[in-house]
Amino acid sequence: MSPIDPIAAATHADPYGFYAALAATTALHRDESHGMWVAASAAAVEAVLTSPSCRVRPANVPVPPALAGTAAGRIFGALVRMNDGAAHCPLKRAIADACGRIDRARAASVGSREAAALVPRTPLEAFAFVLPAHVVAALLGVPADMRPDIARWTADFAAAIGATASPDETARGIDAARHLLDAAHALLRAPADLPPDALLAALAREARHAGRVEPDIIAANAIGLLSQTYDATAGLIGNTLLAFAAHPAAGAEARTDDRALTAFIDEVQRWDPPIQNTRRFAAADATIAGTAVREGDAILVLLAAANRDPAANPDPARFDPARADRRSFTFGHGAHACPGRTLALVIAASAVRALLARGLDPATLVRPARYRRSANARIPLLATRDACP
Ligand code: HEM
Repeated sequence: MSPIDPIAAATHADPYGFYAALAATTALHRDESHGMWVAASAAAVEAVLTSPSCRVRPANVPVPPALAGTAAGRIFGALVRMNDGAAHCPLKRAIADACGRIDRARAASVGSREAAALVPRTPLEAFAFVLPAHVVAALLGVPADMRPDIARWTADFAAAIGATASPDETARGIDAARHLLDAAHALLRAPADLPPDALLAALAREARHAGRVEPDIIAANAIGLLSQTYDATAGLIGNTLLAFAAHPAAGAEARTDDRALTAFIDEVQRWDPPIQNTRRFAAADATIAGTAVREGDAILVLLAAANRDPAANPDPARFDPARADRRSFTFGHGAHACPGRTLALVIAASAVRALLARGLDPATLVRPARYRRSANARIPLLATRDACP
């Protein structure tokens, strides 16, 4: 059955016909049940994400009320992801520069090493979450013995900042945030103990160049790299495994050729995105994509629908790893575009290689997939018909 709700679509078994119908209209449209505007076409999504009138948070709620005044709120309020204007740029540039300096071959070797260590002792349903956290922690310079705790706290923190957090999840996330801040500050206080190529050292250096020397800001944004990675990359890994089952011929090539695997995962992120939507809030009355919006209005930005707009990708429903000039909104667009795209693809490739090498047969994944409860992420709950490899 086709979804009729643009938020529930993120975790619907097949939301793509619904999205395609929405994307056929280039203007914003009003969804009264959610009290929001919805942008679905590539033109509308691009217009919202590049509009100078749009902000990532409502003006009067910089931090969700349940987190305000807590350690989790301290991190949330300092994230570039959650700020615009002076609190966003130039720190965003510093973070993008630090991420851009991660050597791809080194990230791949850290990914393979962490995956090989984790895959035999981690249940399939946990592996897709734990691996990305371990890889980013390792790249930041977190010592190996601390990585399991960092992954656990990242899980709790990420759940607490999600739109669907329960009171229990919020409480656990606040506790985890305290631990994450303590750990990040301890590492920042002893820079000589960090590996010379540590991402945390690069982040601190770039932030200093950008005039942001406050340790709390650097610590919060290092934690932000972990939490931004966590759910999204788990979704990319899971959706890639499902795509292997759905497209066995392309999957067979990707199994044997690293470039084909990267192309396969790059098409998955467009075709079945792990992050399906984001939100913006109008900071002033404005006309966006031809629609008059009022100060304070919320806009749901359907990244996954824009990917299926034929104006962005010809024959958009076709899964084609060789697609030329792929246009994808999965990693955002404009000032807040994701600086972790390359790293996410590298981590997902490490995960898939390790699982296939361990004997996972994607054809045995239980389908139709069920997805983890979320208002914006599409993360399949991985289970196999056979015993877990
Ligand atoms: C499949 C994996 C990932 C997906 C789909 C993804 C998606 C996104 C999206 C859609 C945004 C923009 C949100 C908006 O504009 O409202 C974003 C921002 C961001 N992402 Fe990612 N991301 C992924 C992995 C990563 C990784 C691995 C890192 C870094 C280690 C990262 C770091 C960030 C940061 C720091 C921002 C905030 C940028 C800003 O606000 O200027 N992400 N991501």
